[in-house]
Amino acid sequence: MLTEVPHDHPLLVQFREDPYPLYRYLLSAAPVQWNDVLGAWTVARYADVVSVLTDPRFSADRTIEGSPEQQIARSMLVSDPPDHTRLRSLVQKAFTPKVVEQLRPRIEAIVKELLDAIEARGGEFDLIDELAYPLPVQVIAELLGVPPQDQANFHEWSAALAASLDPLVSEQNMERAIRGRDALHAYFRTIIAERRGHPQPDLISSLVAVEEQGERLNERELVVMCNLLLVAGHETTVNLIGNGTLALLRHPDQLARLRQAPDSISVAIEELLRFDSPVQLTGRIAHQTLRLGDRDIAAGDWVLPLLGAANHDPLQFAEPDELDIGRNPNPHVAFGRGIHFCLGAPLARIEGQIAIAALISRFPRLELAGNPVRREQITLRGIQHLPVSPAA
Ligand code: HEM
Repeated sequence: MLTEVPHDHPLLVQFREDPYPLYRYLLSAAPVQWNDVLGAWTVARYADVVSVLTDPRFSADRTIEGSPEQQIARSMLVSDPPDHTRLRSLVQKAFTPKVVEQLRPRIEAIVKELLDAIEARGGEFDLIDELAYPLPVQVIAELLGVPPQDQANFHEWSAALAASLDPLVSEQNMERAIRGRDALHAYFRTIIAERRGHPQPDLISSLVAVEEQGERLNERELVVMCNLLLVAGHETTVNLIGNGTLALLRHPDQLARLRQAPDSISVAIEELLRFDSPVQLTGRIAHQTLRLGDRDIAAGDWVLPLLGAANHDPLQFAEPDELDIGRNPNPHVAFGRGIHFCLGAPLARIEGQIAIAALISRFPRLELAGNPVRREQITLRGIQHLPVSPAA
């Protein structure tokens, strides 16, 4: 899928700026459609997206010629069973809701520190730079055991890798992604070597111990695993906090509702995940010829489940384009479905809940102070800069 398509191609611009009109069209008129520009089938409807994500005839192994993951160990995200099962089971325990709940006091403390700094400085601030980005980065770095002084370097490396998740990646961006990946791998190899002699109470040290027992994890897989967790922790939750806050600021009635019932934050977060999903699409490859909707998919074809479209499917959600922070049940697919369901979902949820609840409680009159600047990526939908004002 490494194709040179002009960056300003209308389809790509539409996907990036406001994909929802396109999704509405696909949902009603072309639920499973071959897309020549993307070189893949787009799948829009909820039921079809769920069926692709839970059908073993589709492979998650989409490492391709020239992709950063080619020729190295595959992360769990792009592995099929039995490798997927083995890799995921090694870290699953660290991310269960119960274990993640124990991080609550620390997450609250980081949020408080960030909000204190914003308040002390006074005036307008950039919600992304000052809260949405630093929070998840700090949390995943502490969990893995990455020294704080090294964190500045990750920003560029992980952003470069995130751009390579798009369905079309320019050669230039692919080269940047490969450089970012190599830099991260070299970095983790150093940290791993340090931990071998001096284990710490962190996830990297636990994984090093597993690797040293042999059998279950080799060193390359260990490096790739650290990388996946670090990048996932850097590039996704930021978009939940950014997109979610923007949605609330644009729907003052819903923001007022949340302020009146702060305990409903966990239900509200699910709606924010559905309404403007941080991960808009993912990819699979058909193992064999099969039928999807009323279309025939050939073996080897790429299929793109559009999570963002499925989350706005009127066949599944009443008034899908309305933000309703009390929507319950809310079986959105923002974290995917099936065996690859987001490992970090409990962590992302708790970070989102704590950050947004604390933000609106600290600033009772928060408002937009300028136009949001969108990130360029498509797969990861988010905002680069979100100027807001406490309007005190
Ligand atoms: C709001 C934030 C997040 C969203 C919307 C999100 C979304 C997703 C989605 C949609 C998938 C499935 C992709 C697929 O099926 O192809 C996924 C997988 C994954 N996510 Fe997240 N994610 C978020 C945060 C995190 C965090 C904080 C972590 C890290 C700790 C994380 C780690 C992972 C991992 C390791 C996988 C692969 C799981 C597997 O292949 O079994 N995610 N995520």
